[in-house]
Amino acid sequence: MVLHSYAKLNLYLEVLNKRADGYHNIKTLFERIDLADKITLNPTAGGKTTIISNSRLIPKDKKNFAYQAAELLRKEYRISEGLRIHIEKNIPVGAGLAGGSSNAASVLMGLNKLWNLRLSRSKLAGFAARIGSDVPFFVHDAPFAYGHGRGEKISIVNSLKSRRLWHILVVPNLAVSTPSIYRHWDLLKDNKKARLTRPKLGVKILTSSIRKRLVLSSNSGFYNGLEIVTIKKYPELNSIKNQLRNLGLKAILMSGSGPAFFSIIASRKEAVRRFKQLKGFRSWRVFLTKTR
Ligand code: C5P
Repeated sequence: MVLHSYAKLNLYLEVLNKRADGYHNIKTLFERIDLADKITLNPTAGGKTTIISNSRLIPKDKKNFAYQAAELLRKEYRISEGLRIHIEKNIPVGAGLAGGSSNAASVLMGLNKLWNLRLSRSKLAGFAARIGSDVPFFVHDAPFAYGHGRGEKISIVNSLKSRRLWHILVVPNLAVSTPSIYRHWDLLKDNKKARLTRPKLGVKILTSSIRKRLVLSSNSGFYNGLEIVTIKKYPELNSIKNQLRNLGLKAILMSGSGPAFFSIIASRKEAVRRFKQLKGFRSWRVFLTKTR
């Protein structure tokens, strides 16, 4: 069984507060994009899950979210069959694009069919939330959705269901750990000099600008409260963002805890032109991508 496992961007990410369980309540707008890993599931003999991949950067053991997804279902439904998961990695690792979370969601949905489990969407989303905060979004199989709680509570944004955005995605050569960025947010939160930003406009305003195709205006409401935290930790990211700005890109925002930056581009033609312009730079990888 072959599955496409897509990446996400956060068009809006507001960190509200730290919770007693250590997580943070957030408000986010997810967008699924067509940058994807290819996952192949093969039944094997002998009750075990194995992970193989072309990437040296992902764990092949129980730390891998795809592995956790398979084992969760295996234990719950007492599956004795073995499984080999092949992950062809195309999504940059540790970039804020939720590649590992997406792989877990694909495995949950794939095994639901392969093992004939007939689990409902909400049941799958429940398993997804046990693996990671970003996993449920992908189980909901929608191009745009709001996330709240720690990001695991999902509501699909129906008003955007036929909207497609073009992006240039720029991924600096640096892997960022999400927990360390949230820890940094905690440290900076009460420090006035840190200038943690508040959103000027709410997520509903952003949604309405996207719906009305007003996203290229300067006050359309894109916002990521973690961006300043990640940039403070890795100041070189500021010069990358400035370079992108100087090249004329608009609406540039970090995704998740970074360090990937994306820009909204008005048309496919313009996106192709930008892609050619940016791909020669050595300090980052560049992708041409759109809503999926
Ligand atoms: O849920 P996930 O495994 O992706 O989260 C990884 C880590 O990121 C958590 O252990 C926590 O430190 C941090 N996190 C958080 N608040 C969130 C999501 C993640 O503090 N909403």
